[in-house]
Amino acid sequence: MMIIEVKDYQEMSRKAAEYLIEKVRKIKNINLGLATGGTPVGTYTNLIKDHKQNGTSYQGVTTFNLDEYVGLSGDNPNSYRYYMNDQLFNHIDIDKSNTYIPRGDAKYMQKECTNYEKRLADHGGIDLQILGIGSNGHIGFNEPGTSFDSTTHIVDLALSTREANARYFNSLEEVPTKAITMGISTIMKSKEILLLISGENKSEALYNLLYGEVDERFPASVLRNHPFVTIIADKAAAATIKENSIY
Ligand code: PGA
Repeated sequence: MMIIEVKDYQEMSRKAAEYLIEKVRKIKNINLGLATGGTPVGTYTNLIKDHKQNGTSYQGVTTFNLDEYVGLSGDNPNSYRYYMNDQLFNHIDIDKSNTYIPRGDAKYMQKECTNYEKRLADHGGIDLQILGIGSNGHIGFNEPGTSFDSTTHIVDLALSTREANARYFNSLEEVPTKAITMGISTIMKSKEILLLISGENKSEALYNLLYGEVDERFPASVLRNHPFVTIIADKAAAATIKENSIY
């Protein structure tokens, strides 16, 4: 794994966007894996800025998001479909029919899981996956204890995850209890992974990722088995590890 340490959230967002833009320009038909949550918002803002200023085009790009809340339709402002349209897709020249997000309101959720895996495989898999990390080590919505062999599946969200995400809802009760997420093995099939970590509340997670055991109790630890992971971490998140270290 390579770690790039940056000053703060803004610099992390700029660096991540530069990284993505270079790939998008180089590989015209790239399949990008995208994430939601607070972490990538600044990255998406920088992609939009670059698209408007420099004309980087997303016409050939296909995207696959990691996850979605079960029970929310795409027009619900708390759904990840809504988030992606609002934070990125509505502001760049991507063809929305090439943006895939698991359906949280599918009639048959198991079938939606199988279909999502198939769609990914039919497109040849993900070239570059953007990831955030939960303070409990989750990636996507793969909570501690998820099998490293898992494919796209339905999960019960950990209380800590629902509490962390309650800031976007009116109350904790409103936060869905289930989600559909790419599995750990789905994520691990990505050719390359870019993990973004910002803030003091993530520093223990980064430490565990680097120095803890590779164990299903800490899902992100599986990334140590991936051949091509780049981490961009800000100073607050990297407080517990050595500056500018290459792992
Ligand atoms: P955050 O979430 O970016 O909102 O901190 C990351 C995650 O839970 O994976």
